[in-house]
Amino acid sequence: EVLRVGSSRPWQEVLQDLTGSNTLDARPLLDYFQPVSQWLQEQNQRHGEVLGWPEYQWRPPLPDGYPEGIDLVTDEAEAGAFVEEYDRVYQVVLNEYVEASWNHNTNITSETSRILLQKHMQMANHSLKYGLRARRFDVTHFQNTTTKRIMRKVQDLEHAALAPEELEE
Ligand SMILES: *[C@@H]1O[C@H](CO)[C@@H](O)[C@H](O)[C@H]1NC(C)=O
Ligand SMILES: *[C@@H]1O[C@H](CO)[C@@H](O)[C@H](O)[C@H]1NC(C)=O
Ligand SMILES: *[C@@H]1O[C@H](CO)[C@@H](O)[C@H](O)[C@H]1NC(C)=O
Repeated sequence: EVLRVGSSRPWQEVLQDLTGSNTLDARPLLDYFQPVSQWLQEQNQRHGEVLGWPEYQWRPPLPDGYPEGIDLVTDEAEAGAFVEEYDRVYQVVLNEYVEASWNHNTNITSETSRILLQKHMQMANHSLKYGLRARRFDVTHFQNTTTKRIMRKVQDLEHAALAPEELEE
């Protein structure tokens, strides 16, 4: 239904219909497009193409004792700047992803599939990159509840991007 409205409406509105929110949360979208994504992965595997999925689940070594380490950043101004950068980049990445999804769903070709997969990976990259950086912050004593809330969300995003077996650790 959502895919039938054409490109006549701003994607934020479509997103509103799709997820019940026009704020930027990739998870419902990722879930929504999961079948497409899975199909793409299978197709690519069948054709022996190399995918970036090992990278998608890549995780850097953490220092001993993490996250109890004493090196966590407690500077709220630094955190605020980080959150703003995260959001700015995220809007660009999500916009490109939604556009690629749209193009793919209205015009399924190997080219639109390739671009969709690339944008999907770009989203995953973004989550991982900022999620890992977010985990360097200790938000416990932040005064700004917006910074605190978004930072917690970004920390969780990275967690959600991990493989299920890694989450069980
Ligand atoms: C709280 O932080 C957000 C983003 O980090 C910022 O946009 C907002 O201006 C801050 N609010 C106050 C009252 O400092
Ligand atoms: C469908 O996608 C191809 C690229 O794979 C493009 O060349 C073509 O113009 C698109 N067709 C429409 C109707 O958008
Ligand atoms: C994802 O990140 C990896 C490693 O940083 C990079 O090689 C790759 O080009 C990125 N992919 C996309 C689609 O941004």
